[in-house]
Amino acid sequence: MVKEIKVKSPGRINIIGDHTDYMDGYVLPAAIGRGVTVSIHLNGTEDMVQVFAQDMQQNHTITLGKYEKYQPNGWQNYVIGVLAEVNKIKKIPSGFDLSFSGDVPIGSGMSSSAALECSIAYAVNALFDLKIPKSKLIKACQLAEHNYVGTKCGIMDQFSSMMGKADHAILLDCQDLSFEYYPIQLGEYEIVLLNSNVSHNLAESQYNLRRSSCEEGLSILHAENEKINSLRDLNLKELPSYQQYLDPILYRRCKHVISENERVLDAAKAMNLNDIEKLGHLMYQSHLSLSKDYEVSCPELDFLVDQTKHKDFVLGSRMMGGGFGGCTINLVHATQMEKFIESMSDDYAKKFNRDLSPYTVKINSGTRIIEK
Ligand code: GLA
Repeated sequence: MVKEIKVKSPGRINIIGDHTDYMDGYVLPAAIGRGVTVSIHLNGTEDMVQVFAQDMQQNHTITLGKYEKYQPNGWQNYVIGVLAEVNKIKKIPSGFDLSFSGDVPIGSGMSSSAALECSIAYAVNALFDLKIPKSKLIKACQLAEHNYVGTKCGIMDQFSSMMGKADHAILLDCQDLSFEYYPIQLGEYEIVLLNSNVSHNLAESQYNLRRSSCEEGLSILHAENEKINSLRDLNLKELPSYQQYLDPILYRRCKHVISENERVLDAAKAMNLNDIEKLGHLMYQSHLSLSKDYEVSCPELDFLVDQTKHKDFVLGSRMMGGGFGGCTINLVHATQMEKFIESMSDDYAKKFNRDLSPYTVKINSGTRIIEK
């Protein structure tokens, strides 16, 4: 019988800390129950990889060693990219069949792409016993996205997908990848995601643009003060003294990253102290900063966050992930959850003539073998 391995890799939420990871910042994500499941087995060929995307009922064949990009926006690029990057670490020895399916809504900001990348990297590693450590697989998946998909993403999504732990958030320092697990104990409150069902195609180009603005801001700051090697070497109190060197847009971009980093560390402290109110307050501040200083929100997300401000059973709300659509993450009193979802859905439909999709989340473990 052919040896078949099944691997599951989760999507993620991010409690706080968006658009900080690619600038050596801090993030506080957690892996969720939804994810991508990959089945993989040897197919007896020397170099033929047959891929089947179950949800789309589409096939694609890849020849090992020939890793040309597929057409833009194709799911194929994730697979080709991961194989190419894994192969750079250790040669993939022979052909195999791989099929995958998932339940992370695409374009929702829950990282369906990292779930796909990590599941494939981990499955190939397991099938051939390549013994590549998770830390290297995480980087390979990130590079697949840089080099084959074209998003110059940070490391948060791939890291949380691989390293998630049930009922815990991960405080990750994206500079040196040191991390600590924080139990998620929200008392009477629960996390619910509201998917705006908007996915702007601006997202990719704007994402890369934000990253390059921050890099430009940093190089100007470094030229003024050589001790500033990262935006986290400056705090919010010091930043105004550099205002004269940065144009207003660059200034606001850097301000977001610096303030968001401080909020992540404050949020982790608040979680330790079970201060859920404080956590909620920081989430609102994060949204404001992402919307006004970083300009990665959109009218639908701003509306969803604003609507919660009139509800005393909601402690916090903010856009989550890359932005320009996708989900908000909300801290809602458990007894009011149904009422919350109903009223938000009604208001959203009235305003935008669109459905809202709510998701309650279970915080689960990272990439793992589920069948062998
Ligand atoms: C996307 C990227 C991440 C991160 C978030 C924003 O999800 O993949 O690396 O930058 O956006 O926080």
